[in-house]
Amino acid sequence: MKDIFERIKQNPGPLGQFADYGEGYFIFPRLEGPIGPRMKFQGKEVIFWSANDYLGLCNHPEVLEADAKAAAEYGMFYPMGARAMSGETDNHLKLEKELASFVMKDSAYLLNFGYQGMVSIIDALVTRHDVIVYDADSHACIIDGVRLHMGTSFTYRHNDIASLEKNLERATKVAEQNGGGILVITEGVFGMRGQQGKLKEIADLKKKFSFRLLVDDAHGFGTLGKTGAGAGEEQGCQDDIDVYFSTFAKSMAGFGAFVAGNKEVVRYLKFNLRSQIFAKSLTMPMVVGGLKRLELLRTRPEIKAKLWENVNKLQSGLKNLGYNLGETNTCVTPVFIQGSPVEATLLVKDLRENYGIFTSVVVYPVIPKGNILLRLIPTASHTDAEINETLEAFAALKDKLTSGFYKEQEAKLLAEQGLEFQPL
Ligand SMILES: Cc1ncc(COP(=O)(O)O)c(C=O)c1O
Repeated sequence: MKDIFERIKQNPGPLGQFADYGEGYFIFPRLEGPIGPRMKFQGKEVIFWSANDYLGLCNHPEVLEADAKAAAEYGMFYPMGARAMSGETDNHLKLEKELASFVMKDSAYLLNFGYQGMVSIIDALVTRHDVIVYDADSHACIIDGVRLHMGTSFTYRHNDIASLEKNLERATKVAEQNGGGILVITEGVFGMRGQQGKLKEIADLKKKFSFRLLVDDAHGFGTLGKTGAGAGEEQGCQDDIDVYFSTFAKSMAGFGAFVAGNKEVVRYLKFNLRSQIFAKSLTMPMVVGGLKRLELLRTRPEIKAKLWENVNKLQSGLKNLGYNLGETNTCVTPVFIQGSPVEATLLVKDLRENYGIFTSVVVYPVIPKGNILLRLIPTASHTDAEINETLEAFAALKDKLTSGFYKEQEAKLLAEQGLEFQPL
Protein backbone atom coordinates (compact mmCIF):
# COMPACT_ATOMS: atom_id res chain seq x y z
CA MET A 1 0.00 0.00 0.00
CA LYS A 2 1.18 3.53 -0.72
CA ASP A 3 1.12 6.54 1.54
CA ILE A 4 -0.74 9.30 -0.28
CA PHE A 5 1.52 12.03 1.11
CA GLU A 6 4.66 10.12 0.00
CA ARG A 7 3.27 9.96 -3.55
CA ILE A 8 2.56 13.70 -3.49
CA LYS A 9 6.15 14.35 -2.41
CA GLN A 10 7.47 12.27 -5.30
CA ASN A 11 5.08 13.68 -7.87
CA PRO A 12 4.09 17.28 -7.19
CA GLY A 13 2.20 17.49 -10.50
CA PRO A 14 3.08 19.01 -13.88
CA LEU A 15 3.12 22.58 -12.58
CA GLY A 16 4.13 21.68 -9.03
CA GLN A 17 7.63 20.72 -10.15
CA PHE A 18 8.27 24.41 -10.82
CA ALA A 19 6.92 25.49 -7.43
CA ASP A 20 10.27 26.09 -5.70
CA TYR A 21 11.52 28.06 -8.68
CA GLY A 22 8.37 29.92 -9.63
CA GLU A 23 5.99 30.42 -6.71
CA GLY A 24 5.26 34.07 -5.99
CA TYR A 25 6.75 35.20 -9.29
CA PHE A 26 5.54 33.15 -12.27
CA ILE A 27 2.85 31.25 -10.43
CA PHE A 28 0.81 33.01 -7.74
CA PRO A 29 2.53 36.39 -8.40
CA ARG A 30 1.72 39.05 -5.81
CA LEU A 31 0.57 42.37 -7.25
CA GLU A 32 0.11 45.49 -5.14
CA GLY A 33 -1.97 48.64 -5.40
CA PRO A 34 -5.51 49.29 -6.63
CA ILE A 35 -6.41 47.21 -9.67
CA GLY A 36 -5.79 49.07 -12.93
CA PRO A 37 -3.51 49.34 -15.93
CA ARG A 38 -0.55 50.21 -13.69
CA MET A 39 0.16 48.15 -10.61
CA LYS A 40 3.19 47.31 -8.50
CA PHE A 41 5.05 44.03 -8.79
CA GLN A 42 8.10 43.28 -6.64
CA GLY A 43 8.13 46.92 -5.56
CA LYS A 44 8.22 48.30 -9.13
CA GLU A 45 5.47 49.78 -11.26
CA VAL A 46 4.39 47.61 -14.18
CA ILE A 47 1.87 48.04 -16.97
CA PHE A 48 -0.62 45.37 -16.03
CA TRP A 49 -2.21 43.19 -18.74
CA SER A 50 -3.42 40.38 -16.56
CA ALA A 51 -6.78 41.43 -15.14
CA ASN A 52 -10.06 40.26 -16.67
CA ASP A 53 -11.50 43.67 -15.90
CA TYR A 54 -12.45 44.22 -19.57
CA LEU A 55 -14.62 47.27 -19.04
CA GLY A 56 -12.49 48.76 -16.28
CA LEU A 57 -15.43 48.64 -13.87
CA CYS A 58 -13.41 47.29 -10.95
CA ASN A 59 -12.37 50.82 -10.07
CA HIS A 60 -15.18 52.77 -11.67
CA PRO A 61 -16.26 55.51 -9.22
CA GLU A 62 -19.98 54.70 -9.58
CA VAL A 63 -19.31 51.01 -8.95
CA LEU A 64 -17.13 51.74 -5.92
CA GLU A 65 -19.86 53.97 -4.54
CA ALA A 66 -22.62 51.39 -5.10
CA ASP A 67 -20.51 48.62 -3.52
CA ALA A 68 -19.62 50.76 -0.50
CA LYS A 69 -23.23 51.86 0.03
CA ALA A 70 -24.51 48.29 -0.16
CA ALA A 71 -21.81 47.07 2.23
CA ALA A 72 -22.68 49.88 4.67
CA GLU A 73 -26.39 49.08 4.49
CA TYR A 74 -26.32 45.28 4.57
CA GLY A 75 -22.81 44.33 5.71
CA MET A 76 -20.47 42.42 3.43
CA PHE A 77 -22.07 39.00 3.80
CA TYR A 78 -25.85 39.36 4.00
CA PRO A 79 -27.81 37.10 3.49
CA MET A 80 -26.56 34.39 5.82
CA GLY A 81 -28.21 31.39 4.23
CA ALA A 82 -28.75 29.52 0.98
CA ARG A 83 -31.30 30.98 -1.46
CA ALA A 84 -33.78 28.15 -0.77
CA MET A 85 -33.63 28.58 3.03
CA SER A 86 -33.25 32.27 3.83
CA GLY A 87 -31.05 33.85 1.16
CA GLU A 88 -33.58 35.15 -1.37
CA THR A 89 -34.23 38.90 -1.56
CA ASP A 90 -36.03 41.28 -3.90
CA ASN A 91 -32.65 42.51 -5.08
CA HIS A 92 -31.63 38.99 -6.15
CA LEU A 93 -34.85 38.71 -8.17
CA LYS A 94 -34.39 42.20 -9.64
CA LEU A 95 -30.86 41.46 -10.82
CA GLU A 96 -32.04 38.16 -12.34
CA LYS A 97 -34.80 39.92 -14.25
CA GLU A 98 -32.39 42.52 -15.61
CA LEU A 99 -29.75 39.94 -16.53
CA ALA A 100 -32.33 37.83 -18.40
CA SER A 101 -33.43 40.85 -20.36
CA PHE A 102 -29.80 41.85 -21.09
CA VAL A 103 -28.96 38.45 -22.61
CA MET A 104 -32.37 38.21 -24.31
CA LYS A 105 -33.64 35.20 -22.38
CA ASP A 106 -36.89 34.66 -20.44
CA SER A 107 -35.33 34.01 -17.06
CA ALA A 108 -32.05 34.02 -15.18
CA TYR A 109 -30.79 32.61 -11.89
CA LEU A 110 -27.84 33.88 -9.89
CA LEU A 111 -24.95 31.62 -8.90
CA ASN A 112 -22.63 32.31 -6.00
CA PHE A 113 -19.55 31.22 -7.98
CA GLY A 114 -19.13 30.55 -11.67
CA TYR A 115 -17.01 27.44 -11.41
CA GLN A 116 -19.23 25.53 -9.01
CA GLY A 117 -22.29 26.92 -10.76
CA MET A 118 -21.27 25.43 -14.09
CA VAL A 119 -20.38 22.08 -12.50
CA SER A 120 -23.87 21.98 -10.99
CA ILE A 121 -25.65 23.13 -14.15
CA ILE A 122 -24.19 20.20 -16.08
CA ASP A 123 -24.91 17.83 -13.20
CA ALA A 124 -28.53 18.99 -12.98
CA LEU A 125 -29.27 19.01 -16.71
CA VAL A 126 -28.36 15.42 -17.50
CA THR A 127 -29.17 11.95 -16.21
CA ARG A 128 -27.21 8.77 -16.88
CA HIS A 129 -29.39 8.17 -19.95
CA ASP A 130 -28.22 11.41 -21.58
CA VAL A 131 -25.08 12.00 -23.63
CA ILE A 132 -22.77 15.02 -23.34
CA VAL A 133 -20.76 16.20 -26.35
CA TYR A 134 -18.28 18.95 -25.50
CA ASP A 135 -15.34 20.88 -26.96
CA ALA A 136 -11.97 19.33 -26.10
CA ASP A 137 -10.57 22.73 -25.07
CA SER A 138 -13.30 23.45 -22.54
CA HIS A 139 -12.66 25.32 -19.29
CA ALA A 140 -11.95 23.18 -16.21
CA CYS A 141 -15.42 23.89 -14.78
CA ILE A 142 -17.00 22.20 -17.80
CA ILE A 143 -14.59 19.26 -17.59
CA ASP A 144 -15.40 18.85 -13.90
CA GLY A 145 -19.13 19.03 -14.57
CA VAL A 146 -18.75 16.30 -17.18
CA ARG A 147 -16.74 14.25 -14.65
CA LEU A 148 -19.86 14.04 -12.49
CA HIS A 149 -21.89 12.67 -15.38
CA MET A 150 -22.81 9.00 -14.91
CA GLY A 151 -23.68 8.47 -18.58
CA THR A 152 -21.73 8.65 -21.83
CA SER A 153 -19.75 11.70 -22.92
CA PHE A 154 -17.78 12.46 -26.08
CA THR A 155 -15.34 15.28 -26.79
CA TYR A 156 -15.01 16.83 -30.21
CA ARG A 157 -11.82 18.43 -31.54
CA HIS A 158 -11.57 22.07 -30.54
CA ASN A 159 -13.94 24.23 -32.59
CA ASP A 160 -14.02 21.52 -35.27
CA ILE A 161 -17.54 21.24 -36.64
CA ALA A 162 -16.82 18.07 -38.68
CA SER A 163 -15.60 16.39 -35.49
CA LEU A 164 -18.67 17.63 -33.61
CA GLU A 165 -20.90 16.22 -36.34
CA LYS A 166 -19.19 12.83 -36.13
CA ASN A 167 -19.60 12.78 -32.37
CA LEU A 168 -23.24 13.84 -32.63
CA GLU A 169 -23.82 10.79 -34.82
CA ARG A 170 -22.28 8.57 -32.13
CA ALA A 171 -24.15 10.41 -29.40
CA THR A 172 -27.47 10.06 -31.21
CA LYS A 173 -27.07 6.28 -31.34
CA VAL A 174 -26.26 6.05 -27.63
CA ALA A 175 -29.04 8.45 -26.62
CA GLU A 176 -31.59 6.54 -28.70
CA GLN A 177 -30.47 3.26 -27.15
CA ASN A 178 -30.71 4.71 -23.63
CA GLY A 179 -33.85 6.73 -24.14
CA GLY A 180 -31.93 9.91 -23.29
CA GLY A 181 -31.10 13.23 -24.90
CA ILE A 182 -27.96 15.11 -25.95
CA LEU A 183 -26.32 18.16 -24.34
CA VAL A 184 -23.67 20.00 -26.39
CA ILE A 185 -21.36 22.26 -24.39
CA THR A 186 -18.97 24.89 -25.69
CA GLU A 187 -17.57 28.26 -24.70
CA GLY A 188 -18.65 31.51 -26.31
CA VAL A 189 -15.01 32.62 -26.17
CA PHE A 190 -12.08 30.35 -25.38
CA GLY A 191 -10.26 32.34 -22.74
CA MET A 192 -6.71 31.23 -23.43
CA ARG A 193 -6.55 31.50 -27.22
CA GLY A 194 -9.31 34.03 -27.73
CA GLN A 195 -11.27 32.29 -30.46
CA GLN A 196 -15.04 32.46 -30.38
CA GLY A 197 -16.82 29.14 -30.18
CA LYS A 198 -18.47 28.47 -33.55
CA LEU A 199 -21.91 28.94 -32.09
CA LYS A 200 -23.68 29.69 -35.36
CA GLU A 201 -22.33 26.56 -37.02
CA ILE A 202 -23.10 24.48 -33.94
CA ALA A 203 -26.62 25.86 -33.84
CA ASP A 204 -27.07 25.04 -37.54
CA LEU A 205 -26.50 21.36 -36.65
CA LYS A 206 -29.81 21.47 -34.79
CA LYS A 207 -31.43 21.07 -38.22
CA LYS A 208 -29.81 17.64 -38.49
CA PHE A 209 -29.52 16.48 -34.88
CA SER A 210 -31.60 16.79 -31.76
CA PHE A 211 -29.66 18.39 -28.89
CA ARG A 212 -29.67 21.21 -26.37
CA LEU A 213 -26.85 23.77 -26.34
CA LEU A 214 -25.15 25.07 -23.19
CA VAL A 215 -22.70 27.94 -23.66
CA ASP A 216 -20.17 29.28 -21.14
CA ASP A 217 -19.80 32.90 -22.28
CA ALA A 218 -17.52 34.12 -19.49
CA HIS A 219 -15.35 36.22 -21.82
CA GLY A 220 -18.09 37.14 -24.32
CA PHE A 221 -20.61 38.66 -21.90
CA GLY A 222 -20.24 42.45 -21.94
CA THR A 223 -17.54 42.43 -24.63
CA LEU A 224 -19.20 40.93 -27.73
CA GLY A 225 -22.39 41.68 -29.63
CA LYS A 226 -24.00 45.00 -30.41
CA THR A 227 -25.49 45.35 -26.93
CA GLY A 228 -22.87 43.29 -25.11
CA ALA A 229 -25.09 40.20 -24.82
CA GLY A 230 -22.13 38.09 -25.86
CA ALA A 231 -20.90 35.66 -28.49
CA GLY A 232 -24.40 34.51 -29.46
CA GLU A 233 -25.49 38.06 -30.22
CA GLU A 234 -22.22 38.67 -32.10
CA GLN A 235 -22.90 35.64 -34.31
CA GLY A 236 -26.64 36.24 -34.64
CA CYS A 237 -27.69 33.02 -32.88
CA GLN A 238 -28.48 34.01 -29.29
CA ASP A 239 -31.91 32.34 -29.57
CA ASP A 240 -30.27 29.00 -30.36
CA ILE A 241 -28.39 28.97 -27.05
CA ASP A 242 -30.67 26.94 -24.80
CA VAL A 243 -28.74 27.52 -21.61
CA TYR A 244 -26.57 30.64 -21.36
CA PHE A 245 -23.97 31.02 -18.60
CA SER A 246 -21.58 33.79 -17.62
CA THR A 247 -19.48 34.58 -14.60
CA PHE A 248 -19.33 38.07 -13.05
CA ALA A 249 -15.55 37.65 -12.76
CA LYS A 250 -14.76 39.44 -16.04
CA SER A 251 -16.84 42.28 -17.56
CA MET A 252 -18.90 42.58 -14.38
CA ALA A 253 -15.75 43.10 -12.29
CA GLY A 254 -17.04 41.12 -9.34
CA PHE A 255 -17.76 37.59 -8.29
CA GLY A 256 -20.71 35.31 -8.76
CA ALA A 257 -22.34 34.28 -12.02
CA PHE A 258 -25.69 33.56 -13.63
CA VAL A 259 -27.47 31.11 -15.86
CA ALA A 260 -30.24 32.09 -18.26
CA GLY A 261 -32.72 30.34 -20.52
CA ASN A 262 -36.40 29.64 -20.83
CA LYS A 263 -38.64 29.88 -17.77
CA GLU A 264 -39.13 26.17 -17.12
CA VAL A 265 -35.44 25.29 -17.44
CA VAL A 266 -34.28 28.13 -15.19
CA ARG A 267 -36.98 27.24 -12.64
CA TYR A 268 -35.83 23.61 -12.77
CA LEU A 269 -32.23 24.72 -12.24
CA LYS A 270 -33.26 26.96 -9.34
CA PHE A 271 -34.70 23.93 -7.56
CA ASN A 272 -31.97 21.47 -8.54
CA LEU A 273 -28.54 23.15 -8.57
CA ARG A 274 -26.75 21.43 -5.71
CA SER A 275 -24.00 24.08 -5.55
CA GLN A 276 -26.70 26.69 -4.83
CA ILE A 277 -29.23 24.67 -2.78
CA PHE A 278 -26.47 23.65 -0.38
CA ALA A 279 -24.39 26.85 -0.34
CA LYS A 280 -24.68 30.46 0.70
CA SER A 281 -26.55 32.94 -1.46
CA LEU A 282 -24.66 35.55 -3.48
CA THR A 283 -23.98 38.38 -1.05
CA MET A 284 -25.90 41.64 -1.15
CA PRO A 285 -23.03 44.02 -1.98
CA MET A 286 -22.39 41.95 -5.12
CA VAL A 287 -26.10 41.81 -5.96
CA VAL A 288 -26.71 45.54 -5.48
CA GLY A 289 -23.29 46.30 -6.97
CA GLY A 290 -24.22 43.94 -9.82
CA LEU A 291 -27.27 46.07 -10.62
CA LYS A 292 -25.00 49.12 -10.94
CA ARG A 293 -22.50 47.25 -13.13
CA LEU A 294 -25.27 46.00 -15.41
CA GLU A 295 -26.69 49.53 -15.64
CA LEU A 296 -23.28 50.71 -16.87
CA LEU A 297 -23.08 47.88 -19.41
CA ARG A 298 -26.53 48.84 -20.67
CA THR A 299 -26.28 52.60 -20.70
CA ARG A 300 -22.61 53.41 -21.46
CA PRO A 301 -21.77 51.85 -24.83
CA GLU A 302 -18.75 54.17 -24.99
CA ILE A 303 -16.98 51.94 -22.42
CA LYS A 304 -17.18 48.88 -24.69
CA ALA A 305 -16.21 51.05 -27.67
CA LYS A 306 -13.08 52.19 -25.82
CA LEU A 307 -12.25 48.58 -24.92
CA TRP A 308 -12.39 47.60 -28.60
CA GLU A 309 -10.36 50.63 -29.65
CA ASN A 310 -7.64 49.42 -27.25
CA VAL A 311 -7.96 45.80 -28.39
CA ASN A 312 -7.53 46.79 -32.02
CA LYS A 313 -4.52 49.04 -31.31
CA LEU A 314 -2.76 46.40 -29.25
CA GLN A 315 -3.52 43.47 -31.53
CA SER A 316 -2.62 45.25 -34.78
CA GLY A 317 0.57 46.62 -33.18
CA LEU A 318 1.67 43.13 -32.09
CA LYS A 319 0.82 41.64 -35.49
CA ASN A 320 2.81 44.40 -37.23
CA LEU A 321 5.80 43.39 -35.12
CA GLY A 322 5.47 39.88 -36.54
CA TYR A 323 3.94 38.15 -33.52
CA ASN A 324 1.63 35.20 -33.91
CA LEU A 325 -1.70 35.93 -32.20
CA GLY A 326 -3.28 32.68 -33.38
CA GLU A 327 -6.91 32.94 -34.33
CA THR A 328 -8.18 35.38 -31.74
CA ASN A 329 -11.30 37.25 -32.78
CA THR A 330 -12.06 38.63 -29.33
CA CYS A 331 -10.43 40.89 -26.74
CA VAL A 332 -8.26 38.05 -25.44
CA THR A 333 -4.80 38.73 -26.86
CA PRO A 334 -2.55 35.66 -26.92
CA VAL A 335 1.06 35.95 -28.11
CA PHE A 336 2.36 32.52 -29.15
CA ILE A 337 6.09 31.97 -28.91
CA GLN A 338 8.07 28.76 -29.34
CA GLY A 339 10.27 27.74 -26.44
CA SER A 340 10.83 25.70 -23.32
CA PRO A 341 9.30 26.52 -19.94
CA VAL A 342 12.74 27.78 -18.78
CA GLU A 343 12.97 30.15 -21.75
CA ALA A 344 9.45 31.28 -20.88
CA THR A 345 10.52 32.20 -17.36
CA LEU A 346 13.60 34.11 -18.59
CA LEU A 347 11.59 36.01 -21.15
CA VAL A 348 8.85 36.88 -18.69
CA LYS A 349 11.40 38.01 -16.09
CA ASP A 350 13.05 40.25 -18.68
CA LEU A 351 9.69 41.68 -19.72
CA ARG A 352 8.65 42.39 -16.15
CA GLU A 353 11.93 43.64 -14.69
CA ASN A 354 13.62 45.42 -17.56
CA TYR A 355 10.61 46.67 -19.50
CA GLY A 356 7.97 46.95 -16.74
CA ILE A 357 5.35 44.91 -18.58
CA PHE A 358 3.29 42.34 -16.70
CA THR A 359 1.47 39.69 -18.74
CA SER A 360 0.24 36.24 -17.80
CA VAL A 361 2.39 33.36 -18.97
CA VAL A 362 1.08 29.93 -19.79
CA VAL A 363 3.06 26.78 -20.65
CA TYR A 364 2.27 23.07 -20.97
CA PRO A 365 -0.02 21.40 -19.83
CA VAL A 366 -2.45 24.28 -20.40
CA ILE A 367 -1.13 24.62 -23.98
CA PRO A 368 0.82 22.12 -26.15
CA LYS A 369 4.46 21.28 -25.31
CA GLY A 370 7.16 23.56 -26.71
CA ASN A 371 4.91 26.62 -26.73
CA ILE A 372 4.89 29.70 -24.57
CA LEU A 373 1.75 31.78 -24.43
CA LEU A 374 1.86 35.32 -23.14
CA ARG A 375 -1.72 36.38 -22.57
CA LEU A 376 -2.68 40.05 -22.55
CA ILE A 377 -6.13 41.26 -21.57
CA PRO A 378 -6.70 44.81 -22.83
CA THR A 379 -9.23 46.80 -20.85
CA ALA A 380 -11.15 50.03 -21.41
CA SER A 381 -8.85 51.67 -18.83
CA HIS A 382 -5.56 51.23 -20.71
CA THR A 383 -4.22 54.42 -22.29
CA ASP A 384 -2.50 54.96 -25.64
CA ALA A 385 0.76 55.61 -23.79
CA GLU A 386 0.48 52.22 -22.05
CA ILE A 387 -0.23 50.45 -25.32
CA ASN A 388 2.69 52.18 -27.06
CA GLU A 389 5.11 51.43 -24.23
CA THR A 390 4.04 47.79 -24.34
CA LEU A 391 4.55 47.59 -28.10
CA GLU A 392 8.04 49.09 -27.75
CA ALA A 393 8.89 46.39 -25.20
CA PHE A 394 7.56 43.66 -27.48
CA ALA A 395 9.68 45.06 -30.34
CA ALA A 396 12.81 44.70 -28.19
CA LEU A 397 11.72 41.22 -27.14
CA LYS A 398 11.33 40.23 -30.77
CA ASP A 399 14.97 41.15 -31.49
CA LYS A 400 16.10 39.04 -28.54
CA LEU A 401 14.00 36.08 -29.62
CA THR A 402 15.37 36.29 -33.15
CA SER A 403 18.99 36.37 -31.94
CA GLY A 404 18.48 33.37 -29.61
CA PHE A 405 19.21 35.47 -26.50
CA TYR A 406 16.90 33.49 -24.18
CA LYS A 407 18.14 30.11 -25.44
CA GLU A 408 21.72 31.13 -24.54
CA GLN A 409 20.59 32.38 -21.14
CA GLU A 410 18.76 29.12 -20.51
CA ALA A 411 21.84 26.99 -21.19
CA LYS A 412 23.97 29.24 -18.96
CA LEU A 413 21.48 29.24 -16.10
CA LEU A 414 20.93 25.51 -16.09
CA ALA A 415 24.72 24.89 -16.09
CA GLU A 416 25.44 27.50 -13.37
CA GLN A 417 22.70 26.47 -10.98
CA GLY A 418 22.72 22.76 -11.71
CA LEU A 419 18.99 22.97 -12.34
CA GLU A 420 17.31 20.15 -14.11
CA PHE A 421 13.70 19.94 -15.16
CA GLN A 422 12.09 16.72 -16.26
CA PRO A 423 10.77 16.91 -19.79
CA LEU A 424 7.05 17.55 -19.58
C1 LIG B 1 -14.68 30.24 -19.21
C2 LIG B 1 -14.84 30.33 -17.73
N1 LIG B 1 -15.85 29.70 -17.14
C3 LIG B 1 -16.02 29.73 -15.80
C4 LIG B 1 -15.16 30.42 -14.99
C5 LIG B 1 -15.35 30.38 -13.51
O1 LIG B 1 -15.97 31.49 -13.02
P1 LIG B 1 -15.75 32.00 -11.51
O2 LIG B 1 -14.43 32.69 -11.47
O3 LIG B 1 -16.91 32.90 -11.28
O4 LIG B 1 -15.78 30.80 -10.61
C6 LIG B 1 -14.09 31.13 -15.57
C7 LIG B 1 -13.16 31.94 -14.75
O5 LIG B 1 -13.46 32.91 -14.12
C8 LIG B 1 -13.93 31.08 -16.97
O6 LIG B 1 -12.92 31.72 -17.57
